[in-house]
Amino acid sequence: MRALIDTMQGVDAGHLLHGQQISVDRVRMRYATGTTALEDVTLSVARGEFVAIVGPSGCGKSTLLRLAAGLERPTAGSVALGTSSAAFIFQDPTLLPWRSVRKNVALLTQLAKLPKDERERRVDAAVEAVGLTAFAKQLPRALSGGMRMRVSLARALALEPEVMLLDEPFGALDELTRDEMQSQLLELHRRAEFTAMLVTHSVSEAVYLADRVVVMSARPGRISGVVEVGLPRDRDAAIRFDPRFVARVSEVSALLHGRG
Ligand SMILES: Nc1ncnc2c1ncn2[C@@H]1O[C@H](COP(=O)(O)OP(=O)(O)OP(=O)(O)O)[C@@H](O)[C@H]1O
Ligand SMILES: [Mg+2]
Repeated sequence: MRALIDTMQGVDAGHLLHGQQISVDRVRMRYATGTTALEDVTLSVARGEFVAIVGPSGCGKSTLLRLAAGLERPTAGSVALGTSSAAFIFQDPTLLPWRSVRKNVALLTQLAKLPKDERERRVDAAVEAVGLTAFAKQLPRALSGGMRMRVSLARALALEPEVMLLDEPFGALDELTRDEMQSQLLELHRRAEFTAMLVTHSVSEAVYLADRVVVMSARPGRISGVVEVGLPRDRDAAIRFDPRFVARVSEVSALLHGRG
């Protein structure tokens, strides 16, 4: 089974500046197949910051996330992660079908060898945080797609990670569920204060969630622009009608379509 969320290891924290949590410095990523996925990518994420990454399919977004997680090594340049406590959330929630919601959430805390009462506290808090307490004993097949994604989020939250790396976590959800999940993620970020790097295809999702939106161009992926969102952190769904929100969405779209 592919590790769903891994406690990251092997990423050098050596050259992080004060307040930095993730640093990607002049990175090139060339796969053994000969594909150059990233070229000269430099990006720094501050502790507690929420950064969203958008860009065309195949531009290297997942590659960038995997590099940040230490799941890949760059061909050139360097990557530093300022913590060993990071959780990776894949697009597909990959739950174990024979384990209940609660036991799926508990899985990685068991691997982390925490004391039992601490484990139980975290698992209960995480299940509660995603609103699934009433479903804790159900099996994944009894859940909707959105609920399964919430189990996946809870599984990451139970690790109480300092860094969350999310690769299109809501891509497969319908719009209503997606909006709900976005609000929930914002709320969790406000409470738990982790650093987040989230890949998405949705410009409005990026602007709604992030402090900064990084826009990438097609292969080999480069950063074509960065947009400071500059909206208050305690935003709610109504902010989508705010002229500033609309302006940021246009800015990101223009960069995405090469009109930046
Ligand atoms: N393990 C791999 N081995 C070889 N090539 C790879 C590997 N992973 C990704 N690539 C290539 O690197 C490029 C970037 O892939 P990546 O998955 O990072 O893009 P992406 O921006 O996440 O795309 P999408 O939006 O479709 O998920 C693509 O051309 C892909 O074919
Ligand atoms: Mg991808």
